[in-house]
Amino acid sequence: MFNQKILRIIDELQKRSNYEQEHKDEFSEENRMLAITRDTGEFYNLLLKALGVKRILEIGLSHGYSTLWFADAILSENPSNSCVITIEKDHSKVKIAQENFRKAGIENFVTVKHGDGIKILNEMLEDFNKNFQKDYFDFVFIDADKENSIQYFELCLPMIRKNGIIAADNILDMKEMEEYTKYVKNRSNIQTVTLPIGWGQELSLKLQE
Ligand SMILES: C[S@@+](CC[C@H](N)C(=O)[O-])C[C@H]1O[C@@H](n2cnc3c(N)ncnc32)[C@H](O)[C@@H]1O
Repeated sequence: MFNQKILRIIDELQKRSNYEQEHKDEFSEENRMLAITRDTGEFYNLLLKALGVKRILEIGLSHGYSTLWFADAILSENPSNSCVITIEKDHSKVKIAQENFRKAGIENFVTVKHGDGIKILNEMLEDFNKNFQKDYFDFVFIDADKENSIQYFELCLPMIRKNGIIAADNILDMKEMEEYTKYVKNRSNIQTVTLPIGWGQELSLKLQE
């Protein structure tokens, strides 16, 4: 059902994430994984497989836990033209995640962009607009600095195909995400739903290109 090499690394990170949840005080902000929950990973893995998703963009990589769930889904069928592009500002987390991807054997399918999310997305959007042949994303996952989530949403929207999904984490456990939820629920051209999975997920469908 799952790629065993990927699942082994997911399980390793799971232990670390569980420990972090139970011993929050032992970790500084920079050292926290702040990962999605396991049921959230399983949910997106199933959804991405069902939709036959090939191109994924993630904002907020950390140690690569969510990315591993996404990578397993897109590699389960035909991996040609499949990729995950993921953005992280913290250098030490980039190093840890890259080592996890190497151990899981997915380093060729995951492109890590190291830097600030807003800056990188602006550059990606500029390149996207220049290209005649558009490589649209099928799925975007927003899970970085919560106060920039609306900006991330707007920067990603032109790069996602019609009927593609922009998902965001921490909808039900973080006050900062209330504004995001209100925003997407009132945004034209978007159908959106809040799901009580993990820390709360908002799934927003792009209705037209
Ligand atoms: C909630 S964690 C991501 C967890 C990851 N998606 C998972 O489930 O395994 C958020 C990450 O976003 C990164 N981050 C915060 N602000 C950022 C920014 N402005 N640009 C890029 N990354 C940022 C943090 O360093 C942190 O690693």
